[in-house]
Amino acid sequence: MAETMREAVLREAVLENGLRPAEELWPELDPEKAAAGERLFESELLSLTRNVSCRSCHLDEFGSADGLPLGHGAGGIGKGVERMKSPAGVLSRNTLALWGRGGIGFDVFFWDGRVDASSGEIRSQFGTMAPSDDPLVVTAHLPPVEFREMIGESDDTEWLRQGEVGAAAEVHQEIARRIRASPEIAAPLSEAFDLKVDELTYLQIAEALAAFIRSEFRVRDTKLHRFVFDGQRLTDRELAGGLLFYGRGQCAACHSGPYFSDLTFHAIPFAQFGFGFNGFGIDYGRYNFTQDPRDRYAFRTPPLYNVTKTAPYSHSGIEPHLAGAISAHVDPLAEINTSKLSARERAELYQKIARWSGEPSYAVELSDEEVKDLVAFLATLDFDPEHDR
Ligand code: HEC
Ligand code: HEC
Repeated sequence: MAETMREAVLREAVLENGLRPAEELWPELDPEKAAAGERLFESELLSLTRNVSCRSCHLDEFGSADGLPLGHGAGGIGKGVERMKSPAGVLSRNTLALWGRGGIGFDVFFWDGRVDASSGEIRSQFGTMAPSDDPLVVTAHLPPVEFREMIGESDDTEWLRQGEVGAAAEVHQEIARRIRASPEIAAPLSEAFDLKVDELTYLQIAEALAAFIRSEFRVRDTKLHRFVFDGQRLTDRELAGGLLFYGRGQCAACHSGPYFSDLTFHAIPFAQFGFGFNGFGIDYGRYNFTQDPRDRYAFRTPPLYNVTKTAPYSHSGIEPHLAGAISAHVDPLAEINTSKLSARERAELYQKIARWSGEPSYAVELSDEEVKDLVAFLATLDFDPEHDR
């Protein structure tokens, strides 16, 4: 059947907004380092409390996130909602998925971009002492030194809270000591890096974790790729959703580029949930890192591959469904029960809305049917299931 006008328009919009065949985003992969990194990713030795691994929060069954509104770290037991019943340290933000992280051009990490190589230089909390010029390697230094994530707030770790900067280095040294003392992890790591076991430091641990993330979570082709590059058909709903995404819905103003993120920062007035990064239910997002008042409430645009699998949504995990996450962009008050807010919380909300009023989604209106079309379109960004993992 001949291609329709609508299909042609969508195909061109997708290409113009940066979709690339998956392989073109693959960085150089190092299978040996990745295999060593997989053991580290699974290892609870990376948490001082020895009871959390990267895998505790980045799980296959939840699309490399954890299925929870907020991450549950040190002290946590079980997966998914089970974990909420355990005495875990609760984080202030929703766990990010890992798809495409460290792929070609992916150089801004975390909800607030606190590791950012987009200027060509690495900006992070390490200042001029960044342990690597690879932003994913710098990122892999952070989870083990964040308290509720992998340290835990017990008497045993009190010494760490006293020490600030030096403390992070001490945690890294302690983890490296443990890994060197675990032959089944240390042996493949030392081989992959061609170093003796007693020469291994946290830098190789972080590099191996990065190699694993790059390989395991690399972008695969999706239904949208097959539509654009192989002429496969979309359903009517998917097509309508795609035309909205790139057209009147303005989604591609921010969810653009090969990862469906411009990797910069915008304010969408999602409700806050939990105690917030700044405490008292507040999360200033990007502002925490730049201290620029214009960055208040702004977060990095989330990439959208496999987004159907990574509920709940937003930096605070407040939205259980994709439809609600989409509506929050254009009609945020419909998603928030304002009568339940305190006067302070309402004041916060007005600030967020003021910041959002400068964003492209402010002027967009979407009907319920259109939101459903968008949900159908977003499902075309799931990796093809027949691809081997
Ligand atoms: C307790 C749950 C938890 C554990 C354990 C955990 N993470 Fe995460 N991870 C998160 C959360 C929450 C975020 C988002 C934090 C933020 O942006 O402020 C995140 C973000 C990330 C990111 C950034 C993704 C992006 O889109 O920028 C990477 C990479 C990552 N984690 C890797 C790891 C590695 C490697 C480990 C093990 C050393 C690990 N994580 C352990 C919860 C966890
Ligand atoms: C102004 C930039 C911008 C526009 C336009 C935009 N988004 Fe977003 N989107 C964001 C940001 C920023 C977030 C995260 C905000 C937060 O968590 O506080 C987000 C979050 C999301 C999420 C949740 C993802 C997750 O992993 O939590 C989805 C789904 C989404 N957007 C889809 C869309 C769709 C569909 C459209 C078009 C109707 C759209 N976005 C328009 C910037 C934008």
